[in-house]
Amino acid sequence: MSNIVILGAQWGDESKGKLTDVFAEHADVVARYQGGDNAGHTIVLGDKTFILHLIPSGILRQNTVNVIGNGVVINLETLLREIDGLEEKGVDVSSENLKISDRAHLIMPYHKLVEQWEQMGSSTKIGTTSRGIGPTYSDKMNRYAGIRVGDLLEFDAFQKKIDYNLETKTDALQTGGITRNDLIDTYYQYAERIAPYVTDTVAFMHEALATEKRILFEGAQGTMLDIDFGTYPYVTSSNCTAGAVCTGLGIGPKGIDQVLGVSKAYVTRVGGGPFPTEMPPDLDEEIRNIGKEYGATTQRPRRCGWLDLVALKYASHINGLTAIALTKLDVFDTLTDIQVCTAYRYKGKIMTTFPSSLKVLEECEPIYETLPGWQEPLTEARSAQDIPKTTQDYIKYVSDYLNVPIPIISVGPDREQIVTLGRSLW
Ligand code: GDP
Ligand code: IMO
Ligand code: MG
Repeated sequence: MSNIVILGAQWGDESKGKLTDVFAEHADVVARYQGGDNAGHTIVLGDKTFILHLIPSGILRQNTVNVIGNGVVINLETLLREIDGLEEKGVDVSSENLKISDRAHLIMPYHKLVEQWEQMGSSTKIGTTSRGIGPTYSDKMNRYAGIRVGDLLEFDAFQKKIDYNLETKTDALQTGGITRNDLIDTYYQYAERIAPYVTDTVAFMHEALATEKRILFEGAQGTMLDIDFGTYPYVTSSNCTAGAVCTGLGIGPKGIDQVLGVSKAYVTRVGGGPFPTEMPPDLDEEIRNIGKEYGATTQRPRRCGWLDLVALKYASHINGLTAIALTKLDVFDTLTDIQVCTAYRYKGKIMTTFPSSLKVLEECEPIYETLPGWQEPLTEARSAQDIPKTTQDYIKYVSDYLNVPIPIISVGPDREQIVTLGRSLW
């Protein structure tokens, strides 16, 4: 048995979707366990590009069953649009290859209004994806307001929950044209369409574990956006770290064999919040252009920075990383020098741990090691022999600092642009 968690080790958009699709070639089950349609996971197959927000990135492989676990928050409008979009591109989606937890919570249209309302009243500019993620997880925790997928199948109870929400969210509802009748009609139709996919995914996952299926657990967002361990409050509203696999799918830690952290060769971040290794504007723009760093969900420009090994070591500890996939190395192909942050200087002292205080983080000055660039294209590389010595030295430097192996690297967006350096994880 070898079940692998594939999760973001930075601030999201590390190429989790691509890595999941690559590993899914040999997987039986691919399961999402947290987040919602704030995620945008890109998979490129030749001239076809797929951006998945809710459906796990195994869906393009015919050998997989894809599971949306209880820890995910689901916008049914997005989900149904995603299913339709995949079918238009010739990808079959059915109750055979997509299972949706009856315990997952629903993102309702009023959650977006609540989010807008809360943003207007706050001086903290998180720069969310405006998908209603925070209000939906708040309602889940609050318990009175949360609505689960399973409620759609007991429509009387669903209507009562709608009434409760419409009565208690009056301030936010004033700002948008949501009516009870429209909601009920729309969700009645959604319920009919979604019913075949609704599954007791806890039982499904345990059957998969018991029969030694190969399982991938696909994370969304990234460690530094985790509600507990990220740069709070500039984070998302779920745990994006390895522990969430257990709570977001209902399996025990023994069901996990490996934790693969996905990290770019540099760092990007969308939205607000401190980010110690952020590049100066001219370099930031250069890397954004080469790496095409624009959000897959909101199309916002991503802020770019040098690889931050202090943050990555922190991510390694929190997730118990057993391996790292280093992606987008090709973006550095033309650079003469590459900087890597190995420590922070705070009030004259050297720090190698990631602080919890944003005030401290804002005052941290990154200390860089400068490594030579390889100045040749990596995009055609397909095996370890194709990787220049200078690139291998860069990879080794990162791996040695973290004391975590880097057995796989990505050298371009396409599924084929992947190089295995060491022992295969399966
Ligand atoms: P995810 O959210 O972690 O799945 O990542 P995104 O899809 O949001 O962002 C990754 C972006 O980089 C996408 O546009 C991918 O097509 C692209 N990409 C993935 N791997 C590589 C790579 O190795 N090199 C380059 N140049 N682009 C890549
Ligand atoms: P994937 O899975 C990058 C960021 C938002 C914002 C913060 C909170 O594609 O890596 P939210 O809407 O979640 O309340 O926004 O989190 N964010 C992401 N950044 N990749 C993502 O997902 C993200 N999902 C949320 O930009 O800063
Ligand atoms: Mg993304």
